[in-house]
Amino acid sequence: MEKLRFLWALTRGRRWMFLFALALLFTSSYLAMIAPQVTRVFIDSVIGAKPFDAPPFILSWIEGAGGAEFLRANLWIGAAVIVGVGLLYAAFQYFFKVMSGEVSEFIGKNTRDRLYAHLVRLPYDYFARTPSGDILQRCSSDIGAIQGLLSDDLMSILSAVIMIALNAYMMITTDRFLTIVALSLVPVMILLNVAVKGKMSRAFEARGGRDDDLAGFMHQHVQGIRVVKAFGRQAHERLRFGALSRRAGDAVRDSEYAQAYYWSFWLTLFLMQTAMVIVFGIFRVSAGASTVGTMVAFVTYAESLLRQLSYFGYMMISITMAQVALKRLDDILGEPVEDAGGESPDAPAKGAIEFRGVGFAYGEKQILEDITFSIEPGQTVGILGKAGSGKSTLMQLLIRLYDYGSGSITLDGREIRGLSRDYLRRNIGIVTQDPFLFSRTVNENITMAAPGAPAGEVEAAACVACVDRDIREFKEGYETVLGERGTTVSGGQRQRIAIAQAVIRGCPVLALDDSLSAVDAETDRRIRAELQRDAKGRTVFLISHRIDTLRAADLILVMEGGRITQRGDHEALSNQDGLYRRIAEIQQAAGREATA
Ligand SMILES: Nc1ncnc2c1ncn2[C@@H]1O[C@H](COP(=O)(O)OP(=O)(O)O)[C@@H](O)[C@H]1O
Ligand SMILES: [Mg+2]
Repeated sequence: MEKLRFLWALTRGRRWMFLFALALLFTSSYLAMIAPQVTRVFIDSVIGAKPFDAPPFILSWIEGAGGAEFLRANLWIGAAVIVGVGLLYAAFQYFFKVMSGEVSEFIGKNTRDRLYAHLVRLPYDYFARTPSGDILQRCSSDIGAIQGLLSDDLMSILSAVIMIALNAYMMITTDRFLTIVALSLVPVMILLNVAVKGKMSRAFEARGGRDDDLAGFMHQHVQGIRVVKAFGRQAHERLRFGALSRRAGDAVRDSEYAQAYYWSFWLTLFLMQTAMVIVFGIFRVSAGASTVGTMVAFVTYAESLLRQLSYFGYMMISITMAQVALKRLDDILGEPVEDAGGESPDAPAKGAIEFRGVGFAYGEKQILEDITFSIEPGQTVGILGKAGSGKSTLMQLLIRLYDYGSGSITLDGREIRGLSRDYLRRNIGIVTQDPFLFSRTVNENITMAAPGAPAGEVEAAACVACVDRDIREFKEGYETVLGERGTTVSGGQRQRIAIAQAVIRGCPVLALDDSLSAVDAETDRRIRAELQRDAKGRTVFLISHRIDTLRAADLILVMEGGRITQRGDHEALSNQDGLYRRIAEIQQAAGREATA
């Protein structure tokens, strides 16, 4: 019931069309009831001698035209009426299909859009814990299943329900006794449906699951083809694929078997049922309890009803599949989205940041403990620490990708918990070590957060990031479309394009989270100098392994195991026993070796 309400809500915007489609459906179904009546009248009252039994306006028309005599001389009228009604039926069906197709496409689009809109508003945490394959699956094939339900199945079901009801009504009014005979095997048919439904839907689910496996395998291997080739794993991977492929094939076969069972049983019941109606009908006619015309009409209705019933049973399977899909989508739609998170001041931030006793844990795992430091606008903080010491997490807290557990973080003296996420992300730009670029032009990638920025600005930003020369060497310069996952650019170029992205946004606070790791030391120095020139008052976080990069920072923090273990400027840290000096010495030695 709730599902129905969910579906009904999705029709918003095309409701009149949906209702109109229903009206067309009803009309066409009603038209389908007429032909057997015409047949009955012609057999019983035109060929036979039974008095006419028809609605009054038709009776008076027949009388006016010359009664049974006239019709007997013009039998083509019967054929013409049947064909005419049939054509009308076809026309209504056509418009019904057009309308319902339109409605279901609309619903499909609606659902997709809603899902996407919801998805991008989910907290970062959701994506950290949900496999992306899972999300993709839900956005593509689950939507497909629901759309299938809406386009074909739901309408078919409605159509079947209407036809069954109309046929049943016609049967009862035509011959009550024969109706009981004709429906005597229906309980068996329902039992059959119930018995087979579980088996069938399991078979279909398995089939879907195996298909997912195959698709997932393919997806990974297309992405990881370099690894497969470099490690000479082709033969091995082909075997694994073969096994998956075979299992997928088995699942298809199983579901086909299940269907074959179902249909053969069904057909047997259907034939038995029809035979019973005919046999009992003949008895009734020969005993004078019914007429040949009534019998013919009745058999037509009964056959139509049983056919619809079988369809109904079959539809149950796709309903089951769509139910599964609907539930999976509901899982996503039920996830709470990120709220605005607080106030959103108009003026840009100045860039004073203070951490006071900040602690943070991923679930049970304590990541950061007692982080305390502060920087003034325009200052640069360097952070040094081994992988996993919590440097990136620190930056994520700053833009509220996660909310900190204890302590306080302030921006310009205001607790960031009270500031909107949007505001923070607008004012604090973070460039990560492994930035993601879209398969769009370089220009579009750089202007991602500043759409429509003039070419001059884009180039200036690229110059600051020292990537302008590289871009000009691309085949089509700034209009070069980057390959999937940015594969046509090197890691260093990717990092620098990401820096250009941040520069053009002009954030008062900029964090380079290891984002110079893939460029050489010389370029690193140039980019830092350019950044300095670009905006003097900018607060900068520099996370790096290079002592050379950190050297000029106003404050350097050394992080170990989620804590700040050393702090000071280069001078002070170089004179202290600790991680900073050890790394400085190693790099100095390496530098001497390189130049020697
Ligand atoms: N989404 C997450 N869920 C659980 N643990 C995480 C998650 N992201 C990072 N971590 C853990 O947090 C710790 C700090 O990670 P991170 O801040 O990325 O370190 P760094 O940037 O210094 O290399 C690591 O031990 C890492 O395993
Ligand atoms: Mg990191």
